[in-house]
Amino acid sequence: MWLKILPDREFVENANVRDADVYERAASKPLEFWSEAAERLHWFRGWKEVLDSSRAPFYRWFTEGEINISYNCIDRHLGERSSKPALLWEGEDGSRRVLSYSELHREVCITADMLRGLGVERGDRVVLYMGMVPELPVSMLACARIGAVHSVVFGGFSPRALADRIQDAEPKVVVTQDGAFRRGKVVPLKQNLDEALEHAGGSVERVVVLERAGNEVEMKEHRDLTWREARRHCTAKVEAVPLDSEHPLFILYTSGTTGKPKGVLHVHGGYNVGVHLTASWVFDLKEEDVYWCTADIGWITGHSYVVYGPLSNGASVLMYEGAPDYPSPERWWEIIERYGVTVFYTAPTAIRFFMKLGGEPAKRHNLSSLRLLGSVGEPINPKAWLWYYEAVGGRRCPVVDTWWQTETGMVMITTLPGVDAMKPGCAGRPFPGVKAMVVDESMKPATRGELVITTPWPAMLRTLWRNEERYLKTYFRGEVYVTGDGARVDEEGDFWILGRVDDVLNVSGHRLGTAELESALVSHPSVAEAAVVGREHEVKGQAIVAFVVLRDGIKPSEELIQELRAHVAREISPIARPDEVYFVSRLPKTRSGKIMRRVMRAIEQGAEIGDLSTLEDVSAVEEVRRAG
Ligand code: WTA
Repeated sequence: MWLKILPDREFVENANVRDADVYERAASKPLEFWSEAAERLHWFRGWKEVLDSSRAPFYRWFTEGEINISYNCIDRHLGERSSKPALLWEGEDGSRRVLSYSELHREVCITADMLRGLGVERGDRVVLYMGMVPELPVSMLACARIGAVHSVVFGGFSPRALADRIQDAEPKVVVTQDGAFRRGKVVPLKQNLDEALEHAGGSVERVVVLERAGNEVEMKEHRDLTWREARRHCTAKVEAVPLDSEHPLFILYTSGTTGKPKGVLHVHGGYNVGVHLTASWVFDLKEEDVYWCTADIGWITGHSYVVYGPLSNGASVLMYEGAPDYPSPERWWEIIERYGVTVFYTAPTAIRFFMKLGGEPAKRHNLSSLRLLGSVGEPINPKAWLWYYEAVGGRRCPVVDTWWQTETGMVMITTLPGVDAMKPGCAGRPFPGVKAMVVDESMKPATRGELVITTPWPAMLRTLWRNEERYLKTYFRGEVYVTGDGARVDEEGDFWILGRVDDVLNVSGHRLGTAELESALVSHPSVAEAAVVGREHEVKGQAIVAFVVLRDGIKPSEELIQELRAHVAREISPIARPDEVYFVSRLPKTRSGKIMRRVMRAIEQGAEIGDLSTLEDVSAVEEVRRAG
C-alpha cells in the first residue's frame, strides 16, 4: 500500500469543489460539462457546437463562438475588482510594483495601441523576448486584445535558439528589453536579439526595447524604438476585439525528438475555458488569495498559470523577476512572508534544492499564510513531496501534483484538493472531463506503459505552427493523443508518472530534446559525432550526459570538455549545458547507422541492455560503459 494523506478538514470545508460527483457527472456528459465551464466566461457571441470532430484530430471547440481572452482576464473584472491588485511584482534588485486591474487595463490598452501603430494586424505574430517583468504579461494581453499572435521566447535562450524561433514564426514586431537581471548580472537581451536578427530578421519590421537594466544597447534607426517612445501618444481606449473561438492566441516552441523545435499553437476559446476552470478548481482560487506560480512566463506553466488562468479568475498574481537563491536562499521564503502568499506553485527541482539545504531558509520565515501547494514539471519523488508538505506547508496545506504539457495547455492529471486523498509521488486522476489511459505497444490498456489521452479537451493544442503533418505524426495514433510519457495506473485508478519514453530529457523541469543537444555538440569543429542521454540527478531530476566522438587528430583534454560544455550553453541556453562529457572512439550503432539510444540509456541507468542483435559492433557498448 501507499502512504495516503487526506486533505485538512478545514480546507475541505471551504474548497471550491467538495463533491466527488463531479468526476462522474463530467464522465457521463463531457460536452455538457465543458459547455457549463465555458459559461463561466464572457462570450461576445454564443457558440453553436461545443465540439466539432469532423476533421479529427484537428478538433474545434465552441464553434462560431466569439470571445477574447484579454477581455476575460481584464475587462470582466473592471467593476468590482478595479482596484484589486492584478499583478504584484518584485524585481530581483528589490524594486516593487503593483498593478491593479484598472491599471493593468490601461497598460494593456496603451500597448495594444502601440502594436497597432507599429503595423500589427489581426493574425500577425509578435515575438516577446523578455524577462519576468510586468511588461511581459502586459504585452501578451495586448496582443490577445487585438487578435495578434504572441510567441514568448524564454529570456535564457541563446541568439541561435531565438533566431530559429523568429525564422519559424515570422513576427512583424519583436518586443525585448535592454537587459534582464539574473543573479545580479545583466543578460543582454537586446544584444542577443540583434545577433539573432542578423540571421533571421527577414520578417521583422520593428523592435521595441523596454529599458529595464540600463545597460547600453545599440538602436538601429528606422527599426528600433524604446518602449517609452513607442507608447507615447498611444490611447488607453482599445476595445478587446471579438474573435472566433478558434482564433490563434499564441505559439510556444517546445522541444521534440528532432533538432527543430515545435511551434505549439493554442487558441482563444477552448484554451481560456481549460485554464480558467483548472485554475479555479486545482488551485482553489478565492477572492482574497495571493497566488504565486514561480515558473518563468517563457514556458507553458507561466502562460497558463501565471497569466491566463489566474487573471481570468480575477486573482492577485505575484511575479518575481529573479533567481530563487539571489541574493541568498532566503529570497523565496521572504517573499511568501512579505506578501502573505496563500497559494504556491513550483517545480520539484526547486523543492529538492531547498530540501538539500536542510530547509533552514524556509524555517526562518513565517509561512503560515500558505494554504495550498502545487508541483509541476517532472515527477516529484515521495521524499521531496513529504518535505514540501511538512517543512513548507506545515502539514496543513494540500499538495497538488499536476501533470500536463505545453501541448495540453491545461492541467490534465492531478488531485482536486478538496476531494481527493493524496499519495506522495502520485499525480492522481484525470481532471473531470479528461480521459486518460495507460497502454502497451499495441495500444491495449495496461497497468504500465505509455500515457495517452483518449478524447479531446478544450485547451488542447490545435496544430503545430505551419506543420500539420508533424502534428499528426507526433501526437496521434488514430484519434488518440500520445503524450510521450510513461506511466503506471494503480488499483484505484490513480496515475504515477514515470517520465519521458521518447528522446526528450527533463532537466530541472525544462524539456530538452537529445537531438537538439547533439546538433549543438556536432556544430563544434572538434566533434565528429555525439549522443546525449539522461542520468538520474538528485536535484535536477535528470542530468545531461554526452558521449562524443572527436574528429581525427583532435586530442581529448579537460579543456576541451569545458569548451564543449560552454559551447552547448552558448548555442542553446545555459540550462542545456551538459553535466558530463565523455570521449569515446565510436558510438553503438545499428547496422543501418542509427545510434542505439536505447542501449546508451540502459547503460546510463544501469538497466538490462536487452537485444543487441541489430548492433553493428558490440565493443562500442563496452567502451560507452567504461567511459560513463
Ligand atoms: C513532465 C510543463 C511528472 C512530463 C507543464 C511532461 C511531469 C513534460 C509533471 C511536459 C508531473 C510535467 N509529474 N512529470 N506533475 N508535469 N511533467 O511541456 O514529462 O514543459 O511530458 O510542460 O513534463 O513539459 P512541458
